[in-house]
Amino acid sequence: MQTETLIRREKDIEERAIPHLRDLYDLTGKVALITGGAGQLAHQFAEGLSEAGAEIILTDIKGDGLAERKREFKQKGVDVSYYPAALTDPKAIYDMFRSIRENYGHLDILINNGGMTYFTPLEEMTHEQFSEVIEVHLKGSFMMVKNALPLMKKRGGVIINIGSIYGMVGADQSIYADSGINSSVAYAAAKGGMINFTRYLASYLGEYNIRVNCISPGGFYAGQDDEFVRRYCNKTPLGRMGDSYDLKAVGVFLASDAAKYITGVNLPVDGGWTAR
Ligand SMILES: NC(=O)c1ccc[n+]([C@@H]2O[C@H](COP(=O)([O-])OP(=O)(O)OC[C@H]3O[C@@H](n4cnc5c(N)ncnc54)[C@H](O)[C@@H]3O)[C@@H](O)[C@H]2O)c1
Repeated sequence: MQTETLIRREKDIEERAIPHLRDLYDLTGKVALITGGAGQLAHQFAEGLSEAGAEIILTDIKGDGLAERKREFKQKGVDVSYYPAALTDPKAIYDMFRSIRENYGHLDILINNGGMTYFTPLEEMTHEQFSEVIEVHLKGSFMMVKNALPLMKKRGGVIINIGSIYGMVGADQSIYADSGINSSVAYAAAKGGMINFTRYLASYLGEYNIRVNCISPGGFYAGQDDEFVRRYCNKTPLGRMGDSYDLKAVGVFLASDAAKYITGVNLPVDGGWTAR
């Protein structure tokens, strides 16, 4: 932006007065679509965005899980919409966006959160398993973005990709032992990809005022094996796993005007795991 334009912009802001902090976080009238909507972390994003005023649309491969989420939100007085669709099915994604266009006319916020993994060790992982993990996370998110753009380009928008600490650092095998869970090479490749996918999109879409950022969560508690939890907590500077609202406000922050000059970043929400 040229100097005169910058000065004019600053003058305009002075004349209009700087918005109050609560208005910067306000998402009233915004439409948000969240993939992996039946899962654990989507619930936090949906809860935060809806409390900030956004209309929520959830999508997931699990139709029953989506219906259950809708019931849960209804009990809290929030009406969420949902579309069952597989992230590996281009036609289902296309149809979902056609329906969103008909029902809402535009989309303001997209959270690419849906994902899956295999616990298979490197030596035993099949190429089909590897491909599926890459396909769901990367190709699925690519198709979501491609279909979302026509609904976002005119008004600007926000895309939040969900990465992982394991897109930033290698998995520490010692914490898994015989817990029955692990983190796979395919997951590392997919989540590393999500972080640079974010940077590419942020560079490309800035001119449309579409901001694109990544959140990289650490491990969230979901009833894992006690020994695993103990080892995980010992390795984490804040001494615990993620809880049921550690992400709630983070999604709102990145989706709102509070973060209106932030694009292309990867924000770890990991209790310090990747700082050590
Ligand atoms: N929970 C954690 O500790 C943690 C940590 C780091 C990153 N993450 C990431 O956060 C995101 C959400 O994780 P979560 O813990 O809520 O997982 P989750 O398994 O509870 O939810 C993921 C959802 O994605 C859906 N999904 C999987 N494959 C799909 C497909 N092909 N098409 C459509 N939907 C599909 C699942 O049905 C599920 O409901 C994921 O991308 C995950 O990798 C989670």
